[in-house]
Amino acid sequence: MKRRDVTGLAPTLDGSRVLMRVDYNVPLEPDGSVSDTARIEATLPTLRAILDRGGRPVLLSHLGRPKGKVVPSMSLAPVAPILADRLGAVVRFVPSTDTDEALAASEDLSPGEVLLLENTRFLPGETGNDPDLAARLARLGDLFVNDAFGSTHRAHASVVGVADHLRPAVAGLLVAKEIDALSGIREGCESPFVVILGGAKIGDKIGLLETFLRLADVVLIGGAMANTFLRARGLDTGRSLVEADAVEIAGRFLESGGDRLRLPSDLVVADPAAADASSARIVDAADIPPDLAALDIGPATREAFASIVREARTVFWNGPMGLFEKSGFDDGTVSVARAVAECTAAGGFTVIGGGDSAAAVRQAGLADSVSHVSTGGGASLEYLAHGALPGLEALDPA
Ligand code: 3PG
Repeated sequence: MKRRDVTGLAPTLDGSRVLMRVDYNVPLEPDGSVSDTARIEATLPTLRAILDRGGRPVLLSHLGRPKGKVVPSMSLAPVAPILADRLGAVVRFVPSTDTDEALAASEDLSPGEVLLLENTRFLPGETGNDPDLAARLARLGDLFVNDAFGSTHRAHASVVGVADHLRPAVAGLLVAKEIDALSGIREGCESPFVVILGGAKIGDKIGLLETFLRLADVVLIGGAMANTFLRARGLDTGRSLVEADAVEIAGRFLESGGDRLRLPSDLVVADPAAADASSARIVDAADIPPDLAALDIGPATREAFASIVREARTVFWNGPMGLFEKSGFDDGTVSVARAVAECTAAGGFTVIGGGDSAAAVRQAGLADSVSHVSTGGGASLEYLAHGALPGLEALDPA
């Protein structure tokens, strides 16, 4: 169901405090600096829309998985100066979230300023959607905006519960744009529709494969995810990353998917501890040596996958084809990124589903050569598979 978004709010918000859930779950370097600011920049249009209407934004986000405890290395403090710089506005940071200190800061906020609060996942009730926590968070605003597309599949207190207490509760411009792009795929996309799945978070994705096999003409599997399927085929996967719990279900998908499910025929293997490109070898997928691990798809697979992608009319890609962050193991991911860009140039509709694949497309300088780069990996997969997300259901209907 379509949701109301910020464009449907009154033209003047008259100093109202706008409690806005964002997804500033950004990668941090060991020195605490933010290494990829795309998720911060993606919220600027909504922040500007609120500030232009005279609203006072109060931002909630999680960062990492601190499991209800304060973990200083997962503080949102490093985000505040970056947001201030990109937005050209004062951004105040308060190192707590559901406290009287945070409440006072929200009330004292001057027009044109933004308040960023501390990591919502430092609070024990956040991931369990605790109703008391949701009520305490709701005190921080007069209305609610969800612009945290990357977290909208999480039924957490700052995403779902808080919306029980605040009206209007609307989508931000980022969430609206993401849903538009993904709805375009769900509601009758052009064939051939090719889904590319890779990466290491196999547990999050494998359960959705049944739906993808129904929606897509071909599903290409690479990256660490492919290892689990190769094991299910009865092959020796050496020291490759395999999700043992998922081998059985992978076997069932191999049977039901038939020809629509494509696995790598060759692989780049190396010692996983060193991941040193100079010692890497190309082997047939059936011949992974016992002491080595698959770290990228091989040249024959790259060519086979690229030619399928180039011929597609619609592409959805989630998860890299190998250890792309290490040079020497990025060829598979880069070749898929290039093929997706070529498909787009030929008139295809292409969506990159967040996380590492979005980083890989940016790294290859191809972010502007695809139709849409989503800020949410898990969220885009869930929306594509089910057409609904808990954080969307909690908002006002359009
Ligand atoms: C993401 O990075 O995919 C989102 O921020 C959600 O994070 P999570 O998987 O820890 O809930």
